[in-house]
Amino acid sequence: MLAQASPLLLLLLLVTQCLDGADCSTITTQRPAPRRDGQYPPPETLAFLRPLGKLCLQETGVSPEAVKRFSDADPFDDNRALKCYMDCMFRVTNVTDDRGELHMGKLLEHVPTEFEDIALRMGVRCTRPKGKDVCERAFWFHKCWKTSDPVHYYLV
Ligand SMILES: *[C@@H]1O[C@H](CO)[C@@H](O)[C@H](O)[C@H]1NC(C)=O
Repeated sequence: MLAQASPLLLLLLLVTQCLDGADCSTITTQRPAPRRDGQYPPPETLAFLRPLGKLCLQETGVSPEAVKRFSDADPFDDNRALKCYMDCMFRVTNVTDDRGELHMGKLLEHVPTEFEDIALRMGVRCTRPKGKDVCERAFWFHKCWKTSDPVHYYLV
């Protein structure tokens, strides 16, 4: 009974708040904006990743716009070159193990100490990648991280 009534209650609450003059957009927008400022993403990490990103753009032929869109916007851009770009970045940053799969401990070595908690929380449920090859599995990680923490997730 309660479960059936609750969507209507929610709607009533929403309408009431909007009528009260509250900012309705803050109530109806579900996904929070990604954090992008002088401290985050960490400038030293960006400086480290950007030249490697150039390499991987060349290797995979993905467009910089597709990378940016996945990083900062919704919905996910599900394309093959982007998936292989994600794998390429794992490889050139040396965060893969000897089978070419992501090694979480190595990835965390790249995370500045003050952001370790954020990274750990973002990744805690993203440990069993699915996909038929390394590109698919790299994409699985990124999608999982982005879903888990759309505010702090970024892709360079
Ligand atoms: C990754 O490892 C290779 C081989 O040890 C090394 O040449 C390269 O500089 C490393 N790259 C980074 C980004 O640490």
